[in-house]
Amino acid sequence: MKDWQKTGWRSRPRVQMPDYPDDARLKAVEEQLAKYPPLVFAGEARTMKRQLAAVSRGEGFLLQGGDCAESFSEFSADNIRDTFKVLLQMAIVLTYGAKVPVVKVGRMAGQFAKPRSSSTESVDGVELPSYRGDIINDLEFTEAARTPAPEKMLQAYTQAAATLNLLRAFSTGGFADVHHVHSWTLGFTDRDEAQKYRNIANRIQDTLDFMSAAGVTSERARELDTVDFFTSHEALLLEYEEALCRIDSTTGLPLAGSGHMIWVGDRTRQPDGAHVEFARGVQNPLGLKCGPSMTGEDLKSLMARLNPENEQGRLTLIVRFGAGNVGNHLPRLIKAVKQEGAEVVWSCDPMHGNTIKSSTGYKTRPFDAVLREVKEFFQIHAAEGTIPGGVHFEMTGKDVTECTGGVRAVSERDLSDRYHTACDPRLNASQALELAFLVAEELSARRSSAGSAAAV
Ligand code: PEP
Ligand code: CO
Repeated sequence: MKDWQKTGWRSRPRVQMPDYPDDARLKAVEEQLAKYPPLVFAGEARTMKRQLAAVSRGEGFLLQGGDCAESFSEFSADNIRDTFKVLLQMAIVLTYGAKVPVVKVGRMAGQFAKPRSSSTESVDGVELPSYRGDIINDLEFTEAARTPAPEKMLQAYTQAAATLNLLRAFSTGGFADVHHVHSWTLGFTDRDEAQKYRNIANRIQDTLDFMSAAGVTSERARELDTVDFFTSHEALLLEYEEALCRIDSTTGLPLAGSGHMIWVGDRTRQPDGAHVEFARGVQNPLGLKCGPSMTGEDLKSLMARLNPENEQGRLTLIVRFGAGNVGNHLPRLIKAVKQEGAEVVWSCDPMHGNTIKSSTGYKTRPFDAVLREVKEFFQIHAAEGTIPGGVHFEMTGKDVTECTGGVRAVSERDLSDRYHTACDPRLNASQALELAFLVAEELSARRSSAGSAAAV
């Protein structure tokens, strides 16, 4: 891109970014990060883009999930493994139940910086900067903890690198081998969805046994031993993103080296703002969060900036309106996409439009609202003849009690039991699996109605 520079965002209006009090310290950190290796490579981002291009044609499904905000204190191999396991389980349910290839993407290895509804927080008459994620400041309510510290970017980089190292080992080192489909049953007890998962696992095992008995040992069968797994995060802290931006030696094009896919949040998507300016110049697949205030015209100008060549797989629109609201907002965005003939992947984030404060004071999300928003998303796409391409959600492999409802019925009173998130409430492992079963059903219904339409 000729008219783009990785520093270009600096002259644009910026929102949701910290004011670092010490320029010299910030500059020293940026210089250091700029010398570090990128976390991801251009070839991987291109592979991901090809897979998303298939999703945009209805030949695959995007599964994107993980923490709202990764934290320094919860960083452990067990946490990474458990989140990865749940994503694999969800992918198996979709691949087997709906017969579609699944593009697996973690909100991991870089999902640290958070937009906030207010830039300050007041407690007992004391006003301090809001917590913006561990890459920026600390959650503790003291002046020292809340002051943005640039060195935290180095710690985030190190944590992201170690996370990716583990994810790469899990994806290729045998753990994700589909022959181990039974061992991904995360300490399940006898719950409905666990039993449903076991049934699928049994059927897959039978198929694999049959293939091996029939002597199917081709290269293609060996592909089942590994998975492609990609990382993603909101590109919010642009000093970090710029410092990790690299030129890809094969194409000469800039790449955000911080993760395979980056997205622009609903609060930072001003067409002439800093975040859109940065994102438009890197060749990674991009996400764009679309909330209720987005107009058709907003979307058109954003698509013109973020995907001017109308490349398939480049742009994923992640819509998040809240249950009961999808019908009020999604049709105008679909209309804008149709008018432009734009290539996009449509993904549904059923989390960020469904956050409420519980009677017990916790920020929560009713799981039935999450499922309802996903259903509405499928209904509108069926009515419009467009392709529901993916889901985007906040989850953890841990057995937390942050969202109410689900088969195991977390109540408002249960929220205090295991409420660990530093930011938004996440689905626990069992709720995540339940979501996957719902999506698999919706997708198979879509396939069979598309099949019968073709048959008429
Ligand atoms: C998020 O995905 O964590 C987020 C802040 O989302 P949004 O930009 O859609 O509000
Ligand atoms: Co969130």
